[in-house]
Amino acid sequence: MTNPLILGIETSCDETGIGIVRGNQLLADTLASSVEEQARFGGVVPEVASRAHVEAMIPTIKKSVEASGISLNQIDAIAVTSGPGLAGALVVGVAAAKALAVALNKPIYGVNHLAAHVAVDTLENGALPEPCLALLVSGGHSSLLKVNNINYSIESLGKTLDDAAGEAFDKVARVLGLPFPGGPWIDKAAQSGDQLSIDFPKGLMSKQDLIDHTYDFSFSGLKTAVARWVQAWQKTGEAIPVADVAASFQEAVVEVLVKKTMLAAQNFGINTVVIGGGVAANSRLRAMAQSEAEKHGVRVRIPRPALCTDNGAMVAALGSHLYSAGLDPADLSFEVDPTLDITQVQA
Ligand code: KG4
Ligand code: ZN
Repeated sequence: MTNPLILGIETSCDETGIGIVRGNQLLADTLASSVEEQARFGGVVPEVASRAHVEAMIPTIKKSVEASGISLNQIDAIAVTSGPGLAGALVVGVAAAKALAVALNKPIYGVNHLAAHVAVDTLENGALPEPCLALLVSGGHSSLLKVNNINYSIESLGKTLDDAAGEAFDKVARVLGLPFPGGPWIDKAAQSGDQLSIDFPKGLMSKQDLIDHTYDFSFSGLKTAVARWVQAWQKTGEAIPVADVAASFQEAVVEVLVKKTMLAAQNFGINTVVIGGGVAANSRLRAMAQSEAEKHGVRVRIPRPALCTDNGAMVAALGSHLYSAGLDPADLSFEVDPTLDITQVQA
């Protein structure tokens, strides 16, 4: 069926997201977040996230359905993140989705959160040319992917060997005394800083690394270098130049992400790149990706920032593709998979 009506449920981390789409058209995207509770702990506490999902689920579904102007029984199918993510958090979303599927007698798709970060782009920029490349940069993952078919064929070209890009942003923010999650704060602080002021190391960019780990990333050395630099500065007794550190750190991350992505585009002869995941909201990444893409004759597609960070619309978008392609829905007995691999699009 073309243009199915799909309700998507996302609970892999600390956002309860409910999205409703009709085909590639976004009808509603409603979010409840436990990030303020989490900020007190400086990171996501799984138990806090799970409890918040339980409390937010029904009100958020109601809000989203109201905003969409549809009624629940018009829905063609339900899609829910089945992994990867926090086990206890995923379980809440999957249980809610199964309950809805049974109550409404509708099919249910258990979908991969990472593939959903790529699929969401179709809500803004239309169908994906296949194959295309996808740079997926979030709090838990950083991967370069070759998307042959968003429904069933995603290849991993490379990934982070240690910290995810977003994780590096969050850890460096903590070193700089900025709130959690740190990415948006670093982004903001960097705007008044000089990205050339400190020469931080760029992971896996040496000649040999570009041979052995062409499309892999590493951010933990950079994170440690920033922490050492800050420690050394503190000994001077002067205030830390937060804006300059933020800008220089951000530049080091973004440069590696963009360079490796453009290299893959060149090597595979692919001229469309989608960037997704929370770090894709970063203003410097968006700007550098666009300008480098122009130089390489590549088209870069990045959804608006609110669709880059976790949300329900992305899950609905992927569900819509699976349903439209006529792929079988999940059996109701499917389980969450906290370590679901990117190559597995569906539960
Ligand atoms: O995709 P996401 O919302 O959740 C995961 O699936 O992990 O990504 C969250 C990550 C966090 O590490 C957050 O700091 C980062 O995305 N992030 C950013 C920005 N906005 C969110 N990083 C850099 N710049 C931003 N503007
Ligand atoms: Zn995510």
